[in-house]
Amino acid sequence: MFSMYKLYLSTLLKKGYLKMERDCLHCTNTRKVAVIGCGFVGAACSFSLMQSGLFSEMVLIDSDPAKAEGEALDISHGVPFAKPIRIYAGGYDDIKNASLIIITAGANQKPGETRLDLVKKNISIFKAILPEIKKRNFRGILLIVANPVDILTTVAQKLSGLPENRVFGSGTVLDTARLKSELGAHLNVDPRSVHAFIIGEHGDSEIAAWSSANVSGIPLHKFCEMRGHTNHDKAIQKIAVDVKNSAYENIKRKKATYYGIAMSVKRICEAIVRDEKSILPVSSMMHGEYGIEGISLSMPAIVGKDGVETLVPLQLNETEKADLQKSAETLRDTLKQNEV
Ligand code: LAC
Repeated sequence: MFSMYKLYLSTLLKKGYLKMERDCLHCTNTRKVAVIGCGFVGAACSFSLMQSGLFSEMVLIDSDPAKAEGEALDISHGVPFAKPIRIYAGGYDDIKNASLIIITAGANQKPGETRLDLVKKNISIFKAILPEIKKRNFRGILLIVANPVDILTTVAQKLSGLPENRVFGSGTVLDTARLKSELGAHLNVDPRSVHAFIIGEHGDSEIAAWSSANVSGIPLHKFCEMRGHTNHDKAIQKIAVDVKNSAYENIKRKKATYYGIAMSVKRICEAIVRDEKSILPVSSMMHGEYGIEGISLSMPAIVGKDGVETLVPLQLNETEKADLQKSAETLRDTLKQNEV
């Protein structure tokens, strides 16, 4: 019985009917990740992934092969202190059997630049990278990290030919971590007990979704009072502004940000590889939620082995809704001016 089934299967394979499944089942290594772009962000992400124990193989790709080789060597020297993983520099042919590709390649913000200022340069870089990925019949998940992440995610969805759920961006996972961290410090409580999201653009039009924020189920305002803060409206407004400006403040001082984003990427990979179905504010395509259509932005979503399983739209008040729509408009206008 079993051999008849095998014969039937091999006939289908020979006829090409099951080509896609064959590529998926026999060629994809669920423990293999590829990182494209080995600048500050790519290198820091690779370093955090090496330590995570999530993967057994990691290929680093960069337009400057020596940079990829150097980072692969340096990071691999830490492996004896972590878990076994083969780390090497490679080319696009090495992505074929990876289950996850992380794209960090692109120009990064200089002091005084916004993320949206990078759009022209980085769309043209994506126009060079994406066809290389498509050519290799890649069937895994594409995680976009380069900025402006929402625009580049939308572009990657168009150019990759992959299903939308498999192409998403790191979005406001980092901004949300910054928000939790600031609120945790303000309230003198573990940031992991703070449940609050930054949504919309990963950038200047992002929104702190205060109306749904809570600490361990207790509405934020109430918890603030419990901790002796009476002037919390002013305090939380300042926190939201500080969160939005964190990257500018970092760039002013050290020219780049990379550790926070590296931890965010590790967290997203954990949710994918372990099929955790965690709720994370990644950047994914909107289909009419809050009247927003055809652009990727951040909204809490269930993330697991197939990428974005479903959005988990938050209950927003009217102001938050209007701000979110404005954020989507900003992104849409930027994309229109740089049509792919
Ligand atoms: C930041 C970069 C990753 O916010 O956009 O630090």
